[in-house]
Amino acid sequence: MDINRPPPAGAAPPGPRPAKTILRALAGETQPVPPIWMMRQAGRYLPEYRATRAQAGDFLSLCYNPDLAAEVTLQPIRRYGFDAAILFADILLVPQALGLDLWFVTGEGPLLSTATTPAEVAALKPTPAIHDTLSPIYETVRILRRELPAETTLIGFAGAPWTVATYMIAGRGTKDQGPARALLTADRATFAALIDRVTDATIEYLSAQIEAGAEVVKLFDSWAGSLRGPDFDDFAVAPAAKIIAALKARHPAVPVIAFPREAGPRYAGFARATGADCVALDNSVDATWAAQNVQRDGCVQGNLAPQHMVTGGQALVDETRRIVRAFSGGPHIFNLGHGITPDADPENVALMVRTVREAREGCEAGEGR
Ligand code: CP3
Repeated sequence: MDINRPPPAGAAPPGPRPAKTILRALAGETQPVPPIWMMRQAGRYLPEYRATRAQAGDFLSLCYNPDLAAEVTLQPIRRYGFDAAILFADILLVPQALGLDLWFVTGEGPLLSTATTPAEVAALKPTPAIHDTLSPIYETVRILRRELPAETTLIGFAGAPWTVATYMIAGRGTKDQGPARALLTADRATFAALIDRVTDATIEYLSAQIEAGAEVVKLFDSWAGSLRGPDFDDFAVAPAAKIIAALKARHPAVPVIAFPREAGPRYAGFARATGADCVALDNSVDATWAAQNVQRDGCVQGNLAPQHMVTGGQALVDETRRIVRAFSGGPHIFNLGHGITPDADPENVALMVRTVREAREGCEAGEGR
């Protein structure tokens, strides 16, 4: 067995070597070619996604239609042969399952009713009731486990409590998470109660995805970078640690990827502090620094800038090779540093996948060194 890094804290007990490339990386194995998938790989840059979304009517109807949600999950696998599929859903389904109203307005992003007072937080639905809303998502997972190729890993996901709470407090996406940070300062008890409710719902939601067949789960903390100092410990690290501990108690063999986006220096030690098996890096992080300071604790995922999917060319090839090389000494899953954007060219995605998979031949030929 070629496991050349100590397993991260909370990693699955030693067992037979997993067959799938992503699961091998998550078990701590260094591979000559890193497995690859892409954040938002099912999305508007793909014409076949736009067609299925039109068939569903709107984005939320697509999320709650298991056959069509499974179809859009499979589209990028058919086109590119990624090593993992990510369940098609959204992090804001959890607030909706807790009783908030949710709309997606074209050109404006999500809009929600809010929970910012003690009474509004207390009025959220009890945790077990989330399954009434979310059961179609579990059906999507079951369909995918039947239909995915044998070598493709299925990743489930949820938003991390802080990121989800920023939307529940502001009622929309915000540039600086100002409303959520203001509530945190003005009424820390209500804020913490909201975080606790989302944390508990997230544990049950991810457990149900795993029971339906998700092989890995990812926790998206897209706005972690706006938490500072002790607030980062209390509201990015602690909820992730609680969720991961609960999942590991129930499903010890299922790896967890954490994505504390824009955590900067706080990426170092994040896996140890939370029990995550892998930390996903955004593209503001220097790969050489991350290889030394984050990958030393286990698998890392990332971190090509999504802009390369728009601009393509030799810069895409050079940067892809540089990232593969920087992380070649340890377990690595190649990915973008954030979601692919709707203006991306599908041909550039194909070029990225080819470049990653040819990286080994390039290294052996001494190219690009
Ligand atoms: O990655 C995938 O292919 C799986 C599906 C997925 C979606 N959203 C589908 C989606 C995942 C993993 C997410 C996560 C998500 N959703 C995050 C965390 C990751 C990140 O990007 O930082 C966040 C913050 C959201 C909330 C959200 N959903 C916003 C702010 C928006 C509007 C912005 C936009 O890109 O339009 C969405 C909509 C959304 N979620 C789309 C997709 C494919 C576009 C909807 C459409 O088809 O119009």
